[in-house]
Amino acid sequence: MPDFDQIRQQFPILQQTENGQPLVYLDNGATSQKPLKVIETIERYYRVQNANVHRGVYGLSERATELYEGAREKVRGFLNAKSTKEIVFVRGVTEAVNLVAQSWARTFLKAGDEVLITEMEHHSNIVPWQLLREQIGIRLRVLPMNDKGEVCLGAMADMVNEHTKLVSVTHMSNALGTINDVKRMCEIAHSVGAKFMADGAQATAHLKVDVQDIDCDFYALSGHKMYGPTGIGVLYAKEELLEAMPPYQGGGDMIYSVTFDSTEFNVLPYKFEAGTPNIAGGIGLGAAVDFLQELGMDKVAAYEDELLHYATNQLKQIEGLRIIGEAERKGGVISFIIDDIHPHDMATLMDQDGICVRASHHCAMPVMQHFKVPSTVRASFGVYNNFDDIDRLIASIEESKEMLL
Ligand SMILES: Cc1ncc(COP(=O)(O)O)c(C=O)c1O
Repeated sequence: MPDFDQIRQQFPILQQTENGQPLVYLDNGATSQKPLKVIETIERYYRVQNANVHRGVYGLSERATELYEGAREKVRGFLNAKSTKEIVFVRGVTEAVNLVAQSWARTFLKAGDEVLITEMEHHSNIVPWQLLREQIGIRLRVLPMNDKGEVCLGAMADMVNEHTKLVSVTHMSNALGTINDVKRMCEIAHSVGAKFMADGAQATAHLKVDVQDIDCDFYALSGHKMYGPTGIGVLYAKEELLEAMPPYQGGGDMIYSVTFDSTEFNVLPYKFEAGTPNIAGGIGLGAAVDFLQELGMDKVAAYEDELLHYATNQLKQIEGLRIIGEAERKGGVISFIIDDIHPHDMATLMDQDGICVRASHHCAMPVMQHFKVPSTVRASFGVYNNFDDIDRLIASIEESKEMLL
């Protein structure tokens, strides 16, 4: 097992105080902090390696291209994709879902075709489908969840039919922590000939993901939630799908040749990467992948599971506290509310204790509607959190509660 306390030393931001208290960062669901490895990789790139990629014939540009394409290969290995042609760099999960909606779905779906999502989706896996519904008249269907925050696979099997063309599901819910059985869901989608997409925004920092084992058609991740920089993410898609899909945006780099009459598009994955890419972001994401691979995703998952169980047991001792989301399979996310206390008031007081938690609808308003709450307080864990952080969280909740009630 890696020394997870030592890992904390690799995160400069965690060495500082907040409101006079050592910083306890428990908002990893929103974004993670960055290890030295990532910070130094990006700094080195801008200090001594910066050049545009793919077109320079000089050494600096060739080296920048090697680093950028090397990062693509790292992500390929991380997801166990067959080929780097299947790894498209995008801004994040939001852009990945929009790309699938506007390129694949807008081309191959027609009015009346069904896209199935779940009740626990982030807005970024809801709104792009609503936009598509306006554009081409697809039917957006929603698989309900129970009061533990789980979807029923039997119900899913009943909902899919010959009209279902895509099932798009979060691998791990950011609002509830629920881990969905995406492999089984993918099988169900495929049984009716539908494609399957998983939103890995939360999952990739916490779980081992193998796109070939899941057999998903599309998988999306955001670099900033897995110790990498903001503004970079990945859409994985099976090669034959990407080959058939039209470009999402037009511009430089995604072309092979251009005349005023017509354009020949570049090969995969560049056909989907118009314009100068986020080079530093891609290279930084590669460093984040190295960071996670060195820890080992199985060990990360096991460690965060310990944190989750410890925190859940401690939170349950607090009178009036209700955990929102008690699925059998959960990642390191705990949402809760406390009788008569507004989540924002609670989080504001906790900030005085140096504790960063989120109080919001977590961009999953339908989840809040299900549980009939306006928002929740959410503590979400990363590899640098420890049992002391949780003890401080609990003490701060108790103190804030005293003041607010
Ligand atoms: C489950 C889930 N999906 C999608 C997103 C969107 O990710 P991004 O804002 O990085 O595009 C998030 C971000 O919170 C998320 O938690």
